Amino acid sequence: MSRFLSNELNNLEAYVPGEQPKDVKYIKLNTNESPYPPSPKVIEAINKLAVEGLNLYSDPDTRELTLSLAKFYSVKPEQIFVGNGSDEVLAFIFRAFFDKERKGCFPDITYGFYKVYAKSFGIDANQIPLRDDFTIDINNYINCGRNIIIANPNAPTGLVLSHEEIIKILKTNTDRVVVIDEAYVDFGSKSCIDLINSNHNLIVVQTFSKSRSLAGGRIGYAIASEEIIEDLNKIKFSFSPYNINSLSSIAGIASVKDEAYFHECNKKVIRTRERVKEEFRKLGFKVLDTKTNFVFVSHEDMAAREYHKKIRENGVLTRYYDEARIDNYVRITIGTDEEMNEVMKITEKILIEFASLGKVI
Ligand SMILES: Cc1ncc(COP(=O)(O)O)c(C=O)c1O
Repeated sequence: MSRFLSNELNNLEAYVPGEQPKDVKYIKLNTNESPYPPSPKVIEAINKLAVEGLNLYSDPDTRELTLSLAKFYSVKPEQIFVGNGSDEVLAFIFRAFFDKERKGCFPDITYGFYKVYAKSFGIDANQIPLRDDFTIDINNYINCGRNIIIANPNAPTGLVLSHEEIIKILKTNTDRVVVIDEAYVDFGSKSCIDLINSNHNLIVVQTFSKSRSLAGGRIGYAIASEEIIEDLNKIKFSFSPYNINSLSSIAGIASVKDEAYFHECNKKVIRTRERVKEEFRKLGFKVLDTKTNFVFVSHEDMAAREYHKKIRENGVLTRYYDEARIDNYVRITIGTDEEMNEVMKITEKILIEFASLGKVI
């Protein structure tokens, strides 16, 4: 730390992303990326732009991408805000709608960046405990008097709140914003976008990083009332007007247009996930009922920390959280069928090793 750092940032705890090693070839199942490449149409569009347009600034209004998303979701273009990954969208939401009076809350076990943003923006944020089975008790959010952020499905649990439950939260907090982070919604749960026109406090956040195979493209978006989007644009234009680069924008547009490819990849991920859930259960794992592109698993006879370490030694990256309540779970992204066959084979081998050592670790 330099002696020049602002006093306000002395105690900042930065978000720690999953590792992205380039030295050895791993089966990479630690950051919930898609195992499939982006649509071939995305590659085609990027190649074309690379020779034609990179000398110019990108469009600060991301007009064409916004129009494609508006058409896809049947909302007005004025109801869409595009950011550099949903992380940036979330950061702008914190900047725009949270302050000393407008405090926040979110589950104690959820996407780690909410806590980091709350701290870096100096926001008082309650972390509300999940129930013992990791479900969200919505009674904690009724008339709660704070802005609310809920990942639905939640991460890293993969569990889902129903539409009815979200409606109850929205209707009892009309003076506060309710942010529903739908990073994983395309893997089998229901989006809240249809609730936006009847709930002016709702902000739905989504991303191209998971279901659109574009994590490296860094595109996220918020869908909300026109007024909320206007506020977010004000923040963006006072911070980084060209936040979406031309290559990402072009990639995003081509991706949204190739609906068939989007559905096909997501169907494959869901099919593999359901199979893998069963296979983990057959090996004695507890597997939460995820509706995402990852599973959150735990085994009575093998400490999660050890499993995470052993499977890494065998060439598979997974995510382990050294945090209270979830330190005996490992989060594993759903890869291709071939990758998951390998994961199951290695897992079985690790379990046998532990059993033959007579070791309950
Ligand atoms: C729940 C949730 N929200 C948001 C993000 C951020 O996604 P991105 O910034 O890649 O759009 C993630 C990433 O893993 C996530 O799990």
